[in-house]
Amino acid sequence: MATVRFEQSGNLGLITLDNPPVNALNHALRAGLADALRQAEQTPEVQAVLLLGEGRGFSAGADIKEFGQPPREPGLPEVVNAIEASTKPVVAVLHGNALGGGLEVALGAHYRIATADTQLGVPEVKLGLLPGAGGTQRLPRVVGASTALQMIVSGTPVNGEAALAAGLIDALYQGDRVQAGIAFAQRLLAEGQGVRRSGERTVALESEDAGAFFATQRAEVERKHPGLFSPLRCVAAVEAAVQLPLAEGLKRERELFIECLHSPQRAALVHAFFAEREASKVPGLEGDVRPRPVDTAAVIGGGTMGVGIAMSFANAGLPVKLLEVDQAALARALQRARDTYGASVKRGSLSAADMEQRLALIEGVTDYNALAQVDVVVEAVFEDMAVKRQVFSTLDAICKPGALLASNTSSLDLNEIAASTRRPEDVIGLHFFSPANVMRLLEVVRGEKTSATTLATGMALGKRLKKVCAVVGVCDGFVGNRMLFQYGRESEFLLEEGATPEQVDAALRKFGMAMGPFAMRDLSGLDIGMAIRNRQREQLPAQYTLPCLLDLLFEKNMLGQKTGSGFYRYENGSRTPLPNPELPALLDAASRQQGIERRALSDDYILDRTLLALVNEGAKILAEGIALRASDIDLIYLNGYGFPAFRGGPMFYADQLGLATVLERIERFNRELGAWWEPAPLLQQLAREGGSFGAWEARP
Ligand code: 3HC
Ligand code: NAI
Repeated sequence: MATVRFEQSGNLGLITLDNPPVNALNHALRAGLADALRQAEQTPEVQAVLLLGEGRGFSAGADIKEFGQPPREPGLPEVVNAIEASTKPVVAVLHGNALGGGLEVALGAHYRIATADTQLGVPEVKLGLLPGAGGTQRLPRVVGASTALQMIVSGTPVNGEAALAAGLIDALYQGDRVQAGIAFAQRLLAEGQGVRRSGERTVALESEDAGAFFATQRAEVERKHPGLFSPLRCVAAVEAAVQLPLAEGLKRERELFIECLHSPQRAALVHAFFAEREASKVPGLEGDVRPRPVDTAAVIGGGTMGVGIAMSFANAGLPVKLLEVDQAALARALQRARDTYGASVKRGSLSAADMEQRLALIEGVTDYNALAQVDVVVEAVFEDMAVKRQVFSTLDAICKPGALLASNTSSLDLNEIAASTRRPEDVIGLHFFSPANVMRLLEVVRGEKTSATTLATGMALGKRLKKVCAVVGVCDGFVGNRMLFQYGRESEFLLEEGATPEQVDAALRKFGMAMGPFAMRDLSGLDIGMAIRNRQREQLPAQYTLPCLLDLLFEKNMLGQKTGSGFYRYENGSRTPLPNPELPALLDAASRQQGIERRALSDDYILDRTLLALVNEGAKILAEGIALRASDIDLIYLNGYGFPAFRGGPMFYADQLGLATVLERIERFNRELGAWWEPAPLLQQLAREGGSFGAWEARP
């Protein structure tokens, strides 16, 4: 099937992009578009040309799957140049989305019209790129340098109305796009309007001093996007648009685009893009497995997590009953929801009316009978098996058949929880992250008996709540926390060996982590890990020693932010970590207790110890089938643990390092540090075979 159609309709030529699902501008489409343009140019009756997109949008841009492959002619820049060079006026009729190369095609056209809800943008920066088909040169010429820069550096699209206000489009239209396009083109012809090339305009710069303007922009980008490769190049490209004639500006854009294309960050960000889409493909759920409809929900337990989860439901427009043990606890929970929304209203990110609307969707209850008819229940009570079993057997007695029974447990055995009901097939884990109304990640836990329908319902619900969902299996800590334990332990060992929290946190932040492990520990509270630590002390074989620093802090009631002192010190009410004068003595004491002579540790060593601990555990998780694929693990780390997207996630990072190198370093740690660093058999196998986590598929 041709991916581009050319039709003549009276005095107009209609060119339609038809490459489902998103009209990605792959080679066939580019070639087809170039051909269609030639036909329009050569057909004497055609006086003006319409560019249209079939399906749900105009075009989502270049075909991301083609990056990294040998380029094939015609390239997108040439096609856009050809559109602009047309001697007949070209009108782009936009709907759905015109993103990246899709918007660049539209900028090559001489006129643009769109529906009010069309998303117009240049999201290339999110893939580690910059608009590489003239976008950095034409967008500033159409909307001015400052608006263009804002759009290019943020990657955030604007809707049709904003685009009209910015001068990016000429008119809004409603209804049938072909008819609207024809009407617009006929009016142009009737008014005698001819071609109007974006590239021939001059760039409006809202500042007299271009040098100062771009210096400020660069400083701003460095502050907002530390460590990112492409945003600074976006600024350089727009600067070229201001300083150079079009042809030279386009050349400069191409050079900068190629630099980005070859950067490891681009590969990592594209990996992250596909990881998100891949995660929704779950073996066993293809075909005719249909999720059950979910229109009403309930959350049990109105603590930290329960309130956030109830807010997630309300944010998605779903009515939710929030159940607490008594009226007093319920009142506190509802107040917490009000306060949290209130803070958003204060910040200006939510309107007061929206807040009331969402709060009205959350109904407080104390009687389980109120849950008889809900479609889904998420339990978020204390992390205690006896309490959870009690709650689930009550749900079993009360909830209607087919209701999804979900637990938010972070460490308990979901299979045991499911066994307290007579319908374990309807039980699933929905592991939200704190704060649940903000964090995008959702680990969807498949128990031994969870049915395909239940799993499909859990995934569909997660999507509805706008979460990034990854299916995981049952084990202690699932994927994210199980790996985090290894990372946390190694970070603490580093302190006992000679590092400081400041050094470890700074090294990991420089790597790109949103937060260092110790600032994070102080934030969540040091007591959280203590119960797990004590349990492990009893259960672990003798060769697995544990750090002792946490015990020393715990003895002194240094629990982190909540006590004003932990790995760092906090002034009253402030969340800013300051050096803790009490810490050096505790570090010395911990080192002495472990019989370790403190020594200087390099940042590289710190990175290897912490990140490779994640990787080694990730390899075990993969081999055990707890995660479906390496990219799911990456997705979990990118969306739940502040791992930098431009590194692609821990497993991608390991693949980039090369698994032979990773294994060599882990083997060294194993020799020097003992049992914790036993290399994962899958890592050994892949390193031997020259394989990668990304390419590995679990063999049946
Ligand atoms: N290239 C190749 N495939 C793409 C694609 C693209 N640009 N955009 C989306 N797809 C694929 C997805 O991988 C997915 O495939 P799958 O069904 O096999 O998993 C399918 O299209 C549907 O995508 P989504 O699931 O994401 O659908 P949504 O409706 O949720 O979202 C969208 C649609 C908003 C268009 C979203 O897909 C998106 O943001 N796409 C990327 C847009 C983008 O970044 N464009 C810039 C590309 S770079 C460029 O243009 C360079 C140029 O300047 C030279
Ligand atoms: P929390 O202690 O803040 O809240 C628990 C709430 O449950 C309390 O308000 C309590 O009154 C209520 N509750 C207890 N028994 C109940 C019952 N039988 N019926 C109704 N309500 C009852 O605990 P938090 O932190 O919200 O954790 C809840 C669950 O979420 C736990 O399983 C925890 O492991 C899990 N979790 C916690 C995360 C976190 O960061 N705090 C992250 C992810 C999961």
